[in-house]
Amino acid sequence: MTRVVALPGDGIGPEIMPAALEVLGAMVSVDVEEHLFGGASIDAYGTALTDEVLAGAAKADAVLLAAVGGPKWDTTDAAKPRPEQGLLGLRKGLGLFANLRPVRALPALHSASPLREERIAGTDLLVVRELTGGIYFGAKTRTATSASDLCAYSTEEVERIARVAFAAARTRVTSVDKANVLETSRLWREVVTRVQAEEFPAVELEHVLVDNAAMQLVSRPSRFDVILTENMFGDILSDEAAMITGSIGMLPSASLGAGGPGVFEPVHGSAPDITGQGIANPLAMFLSVGLLLRHGLHLEAEARAVESAVDRALAGGLRTHDLGGDATTAQATAAVLAQL
Ligand code: IPM
Ligand code: MG
Repeated sequence: MTRVVALPGDGIGPEIMPAALEVLGAMVSVDVEEHLFGGASIDAYGTALTDEVLAGAAKADAVLLAAVGGPKWDTTDAAKPRPEQGLLGLRKGLGLFANLRPVRALPALHSASPLREERIAGTDLLVVRELTGGIYFGAKTRTATSASDLCAYSTEEVERIARVAFAAARTRVTSVDKANVLETSRLWREVVTRVQAEEFPAVELEHVLVDNAAMQLVSRPSRFDVILTENMFGDILSDEAAMITGSIGMLPSASLGAGGPGVFEPVHGSAPDITGQGIANPLAMFLSVGLLLRHGLHLEAEARAVESAVDRALAGGLRTHDLGGDATTAQATAAVLAQL
């Protein structure tokens, strides 16, 4: 039996997780093990990720995660536990160095995007974000009057994420860095160039500076195929890219390692502003189930079925609040299940 660990987390997480498990259960028979995670785990155990949960996740076939965090746990005190530490601990603990964030501009949602329709039409890009290195995981220091975060990358870390990007590309990889300023970016650029020349000569490669990439994402998003970038640039650019789809409530992600279970989660956060109202958009969560089926369980047909059910529900007029409509989480779930 396929084992899936479900981590609903905080905020709207516990509202959208049951809906996602319903969609998953409609496609494949799974044994689900649910655990507290993030702020909910801090409240119960004093830490965002317990050893038991990490061990359980490592033994699963895939991990489905909703969202963590909320005002209750917001603090600048480094000594206090933070919900995000659970997410970072899970990524690091499972060795999930490759984060895939596909961005498709669905015709049904063109008018929901703040960008003009003719700009976003045809956009179908993939952000490949390095997820276990860089400034997120470098040494941190803090004194009364100063602070620092180290950004470091090794050749090997750049090579393995570059391979993921080139393997996923249809035509071109746009490698995004800040090589005019940062030493890590100059290493990044050299290594990506070598990996392309030696292993993927058929894929086109271009290097774009991150500030320019941010601009092109809103001015000419449809020109991108695969965007390959380091941890923090990828964090920022993927939120920006989400708006092409109309709402951050539409973007799924897959975090993969070198063989063990992957973590599948929406890009959006725990949305404390709408928690408890039953109106959260569950579609990014359903699309994350799609990625779980594809990358975690290698069930391509089932993955496509979920994605196309979401597309058809939207084409049929489904709109949650973030998309300018008034469908509730339950109504959105029913609309997608009806299409399945
Ligand atoms: C994301 C989130 C996380 C990140 C936070 C919650 C730590 O923004 O998955 O994009 O920065 O990676
Ligand atoms: Mg982010």
